[in-house]
Amino acid sequence: MFKKIVAHTKEYGFIFPSSEIYDGLAATYDYGPNGVLLKNNIREYWWKSMVQMHENIVGIDAAIFMHPKTWKASGHVDAFNDPLIDNKDSKKRYRADVLVEDYIAKIEGKIQKEVKKGIKRFGDQFDIDKFLKESPRVLKYKEQIADLRERLGQLMTDQNWEGLRQFILELDIADPVSGSRNWTEVRQFNLMFSTQLGNIAGEDGKLYLRPETAQGIFVNFLNVLKSTRQKLPFGIAQTGKAFRNEIVARQFIFRMREFEQMEMQYFVKPGEEMKWFEYWKATRLEWHKALGTPEHKLRYHDHDNLAHYANAAVDIEFEFPFGFKELEGIHSRTDYDLKQHQSLSGKKLQYFDQETKENYTPYVVETSIGLDRMFLSVLTNAYTEEIVPNADGKDSERLVMKIPAALAPVKCAVLPLLKNKPELTTKAKALFDDLKLVTQCQYDEKDAIGRRYRRQDAIGTPFCITIDFDTLEDNTATIRDRDTLEQVRLPLEELSTYIQRKTAMSGLLKSIQEDK
Ligand code: GAP
Repeated sequence: MFKKIVAHTKEYGFIFPSSEIYDGLAATYDYGPNGVLLKNNIREYWWKSMVQMHENIVGIDAAIFMHPKTWKASGHVDAFNDPLIDNKDSKKRYRADVLVEDYIAKIEGKIQKEVKKGIKRFGDQFDIDKFLKESPRVLKYKEQIADLRERLGQLMTDQNWEGLRQFILELDIADPVSGSRNWTEVRQFNLMFSTQLGNIAGEDGKLYLRPETAQGIFVNFLNVLKSTRQKLPFGIAQTGKAFRNEIVARQFIFRMREFEQMEMQYFVKPGEEMKWFEYWKATRLEWHKALGTPEHKLRYHDHDNLAHYANAAVDIEFEFPFGFKELEGIHSRTDYDLKQHQSLSGKKLQYFDQETKENYTPYVVETSIGLDRMFLSVLTNAYTEEIVPNADGKDSERLVMKIPAALAPVKCAVLPLLKNKPELTTKAKALFDDLKLVTQCQYDEKDAIGRRYRRQDAIGTPFCITIDFDTLEDNTATIRDRDTLEQVRLPLEELSTYIQRKTAMSGLLKSIQEDK
């Protein structure tokens, strides 16, 4: 299924491999004509849900380049590392922790196999939940997984790299390429990309491409506070590119070296951070659910091992075609970042509380989501192969992207029934000229109407408007709904309002508001 989705995104202009004519660049992708529209719409949904819907959240757009001390203060220079291990025979390099993760994934695969066997044997009678809770074999696997996870977590927290190497040897993990077990020691590899200023030689001219957008927010804390006169709690939101020199970059746009983040730092009074952590944890899940994502495809994953600056952290995981993986992180980051920047910059980064007449460093609750990962989750949910009746009554297979209407790249298509009838095409073009003033719309007159419907289904266009001979008589047109295939007839002058109402971002935003 995943392969099909990847192929579909290329064929229909969502995502292309970067610089493909030169055989591409690993873990780097370009967004095509439909991809960029969808990506912009997801970003807009996030931005509006944060900045427009909260009077106390404002946005910024900080530069990608930042003063190098930023990354010293944030801890990225010293601690933003992955543990790497090389195989001496294949000369391939791996993330040591991922080798263990993959080992654990294989045990998880064994559980899935047991479930499949049960379904095959007992069919509808098979109670999966009961089996997962009670089967001695499954319980043994689960225990093994928990033990391995705990040991891996501890080694990572302690940064015990020799211990990690021994763990790999103990589990008898072989190089997936060569099958060799001839491993080097584990070494630390910093994930930041660096570049050099043209006018300053050596270390002093060394700059980093930001590995997260969050630091642009922290260093602007005072500027925003002074220019907006916000009171705690208040948030600063930002979307933008981030760069990480990922060693294991795989699973399409899930893990890339250049990607986009949507982050919001919520500054709160110390002591109130857990209340706001819970608030954002629930609020962010509702944001995902408002898109119609099935609940069983979303789950929380509490962090067992907290980063040194955090006092609580949870991921929202989504069930991608390759399993449950992190989609978004919500972190309670204490006052770590502001204090670090205060110490290295020598500037007082504090808040004066009018009520208590005290100065203090606010605590921060962060929500951080990868736009590209969100894009992948929307595509995954949308991709549908189904059997539907044709106009002639016979069944046929169709591939439809059931993208939420507010996010769909193209909102409607205007289709004259026949290409060689100027009275139809003139009318259709006039309608298209009207609609494109208010929404993203396409005009298509090529091929039979059925094929044109299928093309629009494949990019997820929620509505197709057909101009036929009746239109010339009564000035009405047929609107076909992508998901239900229902067709209604409406006067042409009502179409613009109809399409806007059915595809408006405000509908999505309202549903989050109502959930509260
Ligand atoms: N400021 C906190 C922070 O950056 P993170 O968990 O490292 O936290 C946040 O990243 C989100 O950014 C992740 O949940 C994920 O959606 C996205 N992300 C991180 N690394 C990524 C990568 N290499 N490719 C695509 N998205 C990535």
